[in-house]
Amino acid sequence: MVDSLYFINNLQFHMGDIRNKEDLEKLFSQNKFDAVIHFAGLKAVAESMAHPFRYFDNNLIGSITLYQVMAKYNCKKLVFSSSATVYGQPKRIPCVEDFELKAMNPYGRTKLFLEEIARDIHAADPEWKIILLRYFNPVGAHESGKLGEDPIGIPNNLMPYIQQVAVGRLPELNVYGHDYPTNDGTAVRDYIHVMDLADGHVTALQKLFTKEDIGCFACNLGTGRGTSVLEMVTAFEKASGKKIPIKFCPRRPGDATEVYASTDLAARELNWKAKYGIDEMCRDQWNWAKQNPWGYKKPTTK
Ligand code: UFG
Repeated sequence: MVDSLYFINNLQFHMGDIRNKEDLEKLFSQNKFDAVIHFAGLKAVAESMAHPFRYFDNNLIGSITLYQVMAKYNCKKLVFSSSATVYGQPKRIPCVEDFELKAMNPYGRTKLFLEEIARDIHAADPEWKIILLRYFNPVGAHESGKLGEDPIGIPNNLMPYIQQVAVGRLPELNVYGHDYPTNDGTAVRDYIHVMDLADGHVTALQKLFTKEDIGCFACNLGTGRGTSVLEMVTAFEKASGKKIPIKFCPRRPGDATEVYASTDLAARELNWKAKYGIDEMCRDQWNWAKQNPWGYKKPTTK
């Protein structure tokens, strides 16, 4: 219920699998849900290329199963985790929501298909209200330092990698490409603080209850500002006081040169704007890292 959004003592946790209709039926038959925020997606690009069926199975089949059960129990309000990956290699920047969409890998294809599936569901039954949130590059951690990202194995993404170099788990950062046509030659992304991202979800959820003609629409969640890999390294060094040794490497296949969001639609439709910049992202990521250098594990269980 939107009214009780902030009363977290009322939370219940049920473990289940979105691919398992029985799990979902049990949950929906015992509770009356007004809306769903659907985060239950796999998100590693390289894994999706090696194991596409995992992505088709979990992201596609799981989501379709969830939507079938939602429809059956008349729960037709949805906030979905989409991704800037649906812009592929954008021809222009900033990325505007009505750009042509393109998948670069099986992970991206599942996000693109799921956006299309959401539009089809709404076209067939306009009672559905759906907001597809296209995340740019989420980084940082909860300001308490108790909640953060703890990837399994060697991190693929820039910030968890920098973090592990800073705490001494990895010797140096591989910088993929320093010959891009950008100010310092490294690739540019729109990094967004996870707390801003969370706030964007709350705003979207509230919108589903306060605006009648929502329909089904996609909306970027980004800051609208681009930051290069080297700028991020410098900001993290400043926040942590640690030196991050780097090694220049060839470009990573499939990487775009420069991607950042247009934030106009989010401002107009959701009345939402990111509050934090890269200094706060690095401050909170470092606060999480120094309190939990081995993530949620103990060093002995690495
Ligand atoms: N990078 C490095 N070294 C690393 C890791 C990353 O130089 O060890 C560089 C990349 O080459 C890229 C930038 O840092 O230029 C950001 O890379 P990330 O892997 O952190 O993020 P991506 O922009 O590649 O991908 C992210 C999400 C995807 C999503 C995509 C959408 O991880 O899930 O944004 O644009 F699909």
